[in-house]
Amino acid sequence: MIDAIFSVGLEIRNEKVRDEIGEIVSSVQGFYVQNSPDADDCDILVMEIGDDFKNDCQIVNSLLSTGSVKDIFLVSSHVEPEMLLHAMRSGAREFFPTPVKKEEIITALMKFRGRNKDVTVTEKNKKKGKIINIIGSKGGIGTTTIAVNFAASLLGLHDSRKSVALIDMNLLFGEIPLFLDIESAFNWGEIAKNIARLDSTYLMSILSKHSSGLYILPSPTRLDGVNLATPGIIEKILRLMKKDFDYVVIDSGQSLDEISLKVLELSDTVLINSILSLPCLINVKRLIDTFKKLGYPPDDNVNVIVNRYHKNSVISLKDAEKGIGKRVFWQIPNDFQDTISAINQGKTLLDIAPKADITQNIRELASKFTRQASLQKEKKGILGWNVLEAKT
Ligand SMILES: Nc1ncnc2c1ncn2[C@@H]1O[C@H](COP(=O)(O)OP(=O)(O)OP(=O)(O)O)[C@@H](O)[C@H]1O
Ligand SMILES: [Mg+2]
Repeated sequence: MIDAIFSVGLEIRNEKVRDEIGEIVSSVQGFYVQNSPDADDCDILVMEIGDDFKNDCQIVNSLLSTGSVKDIFLVSSHVEPEMLLHAMRSGAREFFPTPVKKEEIITALMKFRGRNKDVTVTEKNKKKGKIINIIGSKGGIGTTTIAVNFAASLLGLHDSRKSVALIDMNLLFGEIPLFLDIESAFNWGEIAKNIARLDSTYLMSILSKHSSGLYILPSPTRLDGVNLATPGIIEKILRLMKKDFDYVVIDSGQSLDEISLKVLELSDTVLINSILSLPCLINVKRLIDTFKKLGYPPDDNVNVIVNRYHKNSVISLKDAEKGIGKRVFWQIPNDFQDTISAINQGKTLLDIAPKADITQNIRELASKFTRQASLQKEKKGILGWNVLEAKT
């Protein structure tokens, strides 16, 4: 086994303190200071907290709960009992008042190494997140309903809790905050404006955490946020989210602009939402043909879902499959009552109707992805992530 070399990120505004801690870290074997723009992608984050310590401690808590960093050490130029209490509750491992004591930092690093002695280099460098992109073949056919409830279902399917983020890509008309009854001051347009600052710490300060445990990134609701976003910026955001979350679920709506194309390119799995109506199925076919022309996403990564399914539909599943030239991967039952009631209450289906067929069905759909992930792990990558078994 190769011994791991652990990276230490420094989120410290005070230059003198930053240099001092950087020097101490560099002097300890097996640790290095991560200076790259991705300074957040590190094993230990040393973070300065200050006047807004309650907010800082919330960020600490988010970073630790999503597994973005293994441990966080806090530094502060002033110490007060309330600050210490928040620091302790946030899950931060150490608290160093400045001026820092070299021996204390070295001892903390040694303890960290002791706790992580079984980690190998390969394990450490593994990227984790999967991007699951849900796109609608038409408006108003339940794409947001599926995205929200699929993401919430992913959360509850593991013994050890996985981290799930939900991004709204419906420019201006995103409804995820409404569906989950959250008030969010920020959206991805905000990140686009401050892209130079983008790291895990900043990302976590922008994301809203829903009571279910989902992390939400809404879409801009004003044009100024939209205009600033470029495919490059979206790529940066998604790559970072992939590192910080186990699953990133995207509600892409119906657009196929240059930003959605970038999202498509980065997606591990695409779920095309449709209903059994002619206009929708024609659009599904158009989308599949467009993906073929573009050369991405690969056909294996594209799965068609039929929403609001009922057996007596005029167009049968068989006819639909014939028309689109692809098997339907999954059917979600028709249940207007529960879906609209969830939307109106700003809750998930798991919250309002945990036993309903539709809730169980979406849970089962989500479990296909988690089962596939563990299967893939067992088979050491022989199977592709998206080669999933279709619902028959
Ligand atoms: N499986 C379902 N059975 C019955 N009704 C459903 C189902 N899924 C969603 N709906 C209903 O469809 C309507 C639209 O849902 P939703 O907003 O999720 O669609 P959308 O495709 O995201 O719409 P938009 O194009 O406006 O973003 C809602 O009233 C919802 O209750
Ligand atoms: Mg929608």
